[in-house]
Amino acid sequence: MKNILVIGAAGQIGSELVPALRSKYGKNNVVAADLNTEINADILQIGPFYKLNVLDTNSILKVIKEHQIDTIYNLVALLSARGEAEPQLSWQINMGGLVNLLEISREQNCAIFTPSSIGAFGPSTPKDKTPQDTIQRPNTIYGVTKVAGELLCDYYYKRFGVDARGVRYPGIISNVTAPGGGTTDYAVHIYYEALKYEKFSCFLSENTSLDMMYMPDAVRAAIEVMEADPAKLIHRNCFNVTAMNFTPKEIALEIKKYIPNFTIAYDVDPIRQAIADSWPNSMDDSAAREQWGWKHEYDLKSMTKDMLDVLQNKL
Ligand code: SER
Repeated sequence: MKNILVIGAAGQIGSELVPALRSKYGKNNVVAADLNTEINADILQIGPFYKLNVLDTNSILKVIKEHQIDTIYNLVALLSARGEAEPQLSWQINMGGLVNLLEISREQNCAIFTPSSIGAFGPSTPKDKTPQDTIQRPNTIYGVTKVAGELLCDYYYKRFGVDARGVRYPGIISNVTAPGGGTTDYAVHIYYEALKYEKFSCFLSENTSLDMMYMPDAVRAAIEVMEADPAKLIHRNCFNVTAMNFTPKEIALEIKKYIPNFTIAYDVDPIRQAIADSWPNSMDDSAAREQWGWKHEYDLKSMTKDMLDVLQNKL
């Protein structure tokens, strides 16, 4: 039986991963933790929750010992655009948190999941069907922390045998907790604004193509990579995973099928546009498909239908 600690449980991924883990492994076997306590009532009430700082080793160790934790999901991160506003803090949180959790995993013999991102690629990376193993020279602090994190997770596995695993996520679209400070966030906000105002002002230009994934697939990827048969893994960390690929213009056209009066305008933010332009148009995720059977379920069409259904009830 797994005993899991999710750090960063109040964030965009954590708030949907925690309920999924609890329904799979049992509510008391999944401990949620975050600095932020203003979160999803389900997470607070349905199972154990601790207010924890990812840099506070002693408090984390106390929880790990008390709950006999054997698996950690490390979801703490400042996203790409926020990172450019606060690069030093981004390094401190993203790398400091990871180093701390890897050391704890080594000492306490825990497996650890850490997400990487399309942000780990940069302008010199091949743009289309970006391979699993390729040039990674990102020019954002977020990307720098992601590449360093990928390497460090591999190092902890090779050097100390820590069962560190992870995926490289594309932009993630969700309807429980909104993302903050990311470059792909537009693809979440567009659904809220379409339903509320029938219009959306986009900070990326109309033909900016990026890989994306709907949250149910992202949650499944995180669980499945940790469940994968280690004998079949050639890579362990930072598996490219993707589900769909679209531009702001294309997502707007899909939304228009349900909300005919919907209009999109473009007010390009040069910082976020430069970040998006430095990332791949699309990733090749065949390594994940071959090594642990990764398979997405949602495409732009089915995600849009589901997002609008769910948000219509929520708003
Ligand atoms: N969604 C993230 C961002 O936009 C990328 O991993 O920063």
